[in-house]
Amino acid sequence: MRRALLDRTAEGGCPHIQDPGDPPLRICTTIEEMRTACRAARRAGKRLGFVPTMGALHEGHLSLVRAARASSDVVAASIFVNPAQFGPNEDLAKYPRSFERDRELLEREGVELLFAPPVEEMYPAGAVTWVTVEELSGKLDGRSRPGHFRGVTTVVAKLFHVVEPDAAFFGQKDAAQVAIIRRMVRDLNLAVEIVVCPIVREADGLAMSSRNAYLDAQQRQRALVLHRSLMRVQGLAEAGERDAAKLLAVGREEFTGESLVRLDYFEIVDPETLDPVEDVSGGALVAVAAFVGSTRLIDNILLPSA
Ligand code: PAF
Repeated sequence: MRRALLDRTAEGGCPHIQDPGDPPLRICTTIEEMRTACRAARRAGKRLGFVPTMGALHEGHLSLVRAARASSDVVAASIFVNPAQFGPNEDLAKYPRSFERDRELLEREGVELLFAPPVEEMYPAGAVTWVTVEELSGKLDGRSRPGHFRGVTTVVAKLFHVVEPDAAFFGQKDAAQVAIIRRMVRDLNLAVEIVVCPIVREADGLAMSSRNAYLDAQQRQRALVLHRSLMRVQGLAEAGERDAAKLLAVGREEFTGESLVRLDYFEIVDPETLDPVEDVSGGALVAVAAFVGSTRLIDNILLPSA
């Protein structure tokens, strides 16, 4: 019944139209319940798509859900604010939480299974086992957020073990996270396809992020410098500049005089290894992170190979 009502673009861009006959969203709070539900779907021959999130959903997350919906028979999502990926001085306590609204959005998009475990379910007392992608985890955001990617890969590996999805959907906005999860999946031979969806932006270019909710009106305006700096680099690259040092100088220059914004990093790297490149002819990831007030925002663009 659902199939007949769906009208999607090839990219899965159209919202799901919920039908009264659709099964309601089932919320699982224990690993056993979620694993049993996911296994039942797969045993019935359904292709299972999975969208892991920390909640506070926005259009970026919903684009992942729509991509999952477009290529899966059953869509599962998770909402879990993962303490292991927050540093001691980061925003774990104040991270936006909006479970009821998120639940409604996911239901409207036709998600069938939602995993929303308490912290003790994911990290039982005495848990001392971590999944670390060596080297990559110390690059880009990993340099300024020590331990962050160890927390991400540990929780994503655990979620993959619970859900056992055929495909999992991540946003390109977290470009370093994408590279690290891809490497983890490769190195550990995990049987999951990683699907990466494009960054979703506000009309003025600001990349959508749950952390944008922290910005006041003035900071929201100043935050546009991230996108502006990337657009300057893209313009120059499109005009034929291949020298990463020159492109970096132009991107970084955009931040001078921005008193409310503190640049964390502006780098041009190989999208897989996250190592700096000197020449962008082979394609490159241009990534930026900056504090706007106390809110840390990230953004990036991919330069195609020439
Ligand atoms: O990208 C996120 O929201 C989180 O890092 C993830 C992948 C859900 C793991 O907690």
